[in-house]
Amino acid sequence: MAKLTIAELKQRKGPGSLVMLTAYDYPTAKLAAEAGVDVLLVGDSLGMVVLGYDSTVPVTLEEMLHHTSAARRGAPDVHLVSDLPYLADATPERALAAAERLIKEGGADSVKLEGPKLAVVRALVEAGVPVLGHVGLTPQTASSLGGYKVQGRSPAAAKKLLEDALALEDAGAWGVVLEMVPRQLAALVTEQLGVPTIGIGAGAATDGQVLVFHDLVGVFDRFKPKFVRRYLEGGALIREAIEAYAADVRAGAFPEVGHAYEMDEEALEGLYGKGEA
Ligand code: KIV
Repeated sequence: MAKLTIAELKQRKGPGSLVMLTAYDYPTAKLAAEAGVDVLLVGDSLGMVVLGYDSTVPVTLEEMLHHTSAARRGAPDVHLVSDLPYLADATPERALAAAERLIKEGGADSVKLEGPKLAVVRALVEAGVPVLGHVGLTPQTASSLGGYKVQGRSPAAAKKLLEDALALEDAGAWGVVLEMVPRQLAALVTEQLGVPTIGIGAGAATDGQVLVFHDLVGVFDRFKPKFVRRYLEGGALIREAIEAYAADVRAGAFPEVGHAYEMDEEALEGLYGKGEA
């Protein structure tokens, strides 16, 4: 499958038109590419599901670069979006510098940034950097939004969210992620936007869906949002496999002869002397 271009991505309108998944390393990106995922996201959720931080705020540009380039090596032919980490998008200058590194060194195709930072989006798009917007629950500023809560529930908040999404499209974003938004509002935004919406906890009417890989395979157990469907209880399976390995080592059942390398007779005689081996 050839990598989707921005023009092709912009045409992915209609529910189920875009499948996006996070990936932060070579094997996950490779498996997701083999499974036919349309777009991979090196999200700054990296900080929570891989690096063990309490939020996405501590994630650095160097960490994003490290993981973006690993994911790129696993999926050279899939459109790869990389998140601008906290405050890397505080000004157009900072965002341009960070995007340059994520694209040149990390191999990203697009960058994603949170919130309606329109001047930043415009500067990136004018410089030729494809941008994916993100509204609703924006984890980098979750504390000022009252925690990990559904956004846009009141008429005023819903109108503001719709305006922000439209403004992001107007500023040149090729799509907009809607995170933790009531499904009726997500449907309205999707209908009003000419570019695709990609939902996470935003119902079934968005044009695309995105999930965090570690939620999908059940290896992140600090909390499980209502919108997650686990397709695998991977945490339990991996723990059982490690327990079985430890039990085998302790019982002398692993490694077996078949797992070991042989020295030939002649070499053994040279080592021990004839007749002694
Ligand atoms: O960081 C991330 O993984 C994200 C998705 C939840 C959209 O921003």
